[in-house]
Amino acid sequence: MTANESISIYLDIALLAARAGGAVLSHYWGKQLAIAEKGRSGDLVTQVDKESEAEVIKVIQRHCPDHAIFAEESGKSGTQNHKYQWVIDPLDGTTNYAHGYPQAAVSIGLNIDGIPSVGVVYNPMKEELWCAGKGLGATLNGQTIRVSHTQELKDSLLVTGFAYDRRETNDNNYAEFCYLTHLTQGVRRAGSASLDLCELAGGRLDGYWERGLSPWDLLAGVVIVTEAGGYITAYDGSPFDINTGRILATNGKIHEALMIALKNTPHSPAFSFADVVG
Ligand code: IPD
Ligand code: CA
Ligand code: CA
Ligand code: CA
Repeated sequence: MTANESISIYLDIALLAARAGGAVLSHYWGKQLAIAEKGRSGDLVTQVDKESEAEVIKVIQRHCPDHAIFAEESGKSGTQNHKYQWVIDPLDGTTNYAHGYPQAAVSIGLNIDGIPSVGVVYNPMKEELWCAGKGLGATLNGQTIRVSHTQELKDSLLVTGFAYDRRETNDNNYAEFCYLTHLTQGVRRAGSASLDLCELAGGRLDGYWERGLSPWDLLAGVVIVTEAGGYITAYDGSPFDINTGRILATNGKIHEALMIALKNTPHSPAFSFADVVG
């Protein structure tokens, strides 16, 4: 079997798993949820996160019983052999989902020998299914997608996010958010890292940066952006490392300009979260 053939088989399995998780999101959509907070304030978890994760894992284990699994709610399971490692966010955008804001998705990525190889992100509320396999291209609902052609930062629309520890840290992204708002046509905060990456891949957005993320927020979207022709690095342009939790992803054309803007962001406290919350 060629590498492309095996990637396409795993992509099909990821699709089945995403549909299974997506059915859970659809089932509970608009219903009263049992909502709890994890360790940090604002970090919500619901029965939807847990049930979606159980359904996704069930599908993966049925087809690939000897693969490793790393999922947000249940941690590591399966074999310790990491040739194949599935990385799962069963509900990316829990806060959105819990409030009835339809920007949330099931996100499933697969590393093969440590290389991001498959990505599927499914938002059943909007019936949008984003997928990619390494070397196979990226699609939205079966149609090939490419990143935007926007050449300059001043013409760009960006997206970012704020980590749950924003109240406790000075490195909370507010300065960058304000600065980039002035330098571009706008900065959005949509609340689902995997969908932020997909919408960049699909050309709806031109660039994305965020810190404080986990591999399950990123892996699937990273494959999708890369296969759609996007470019991904660390904030300083060095190679992207998913374990740092920091990402700078663009259409490639505005990459350097966004990197420089992040580096040059003035941090004089025009606004401090501490002033607001005391
Ligand atoms: C969160 C979302 C959000 C990002 C947070 C993530 P969750 O994931 O991706 O956009 O800003 O840092 O933790 O908790 O909804 O799965
Ligand atoms: Ca979460
Ligand atoms: Ca997430
Ligand atoms: Ca999640």
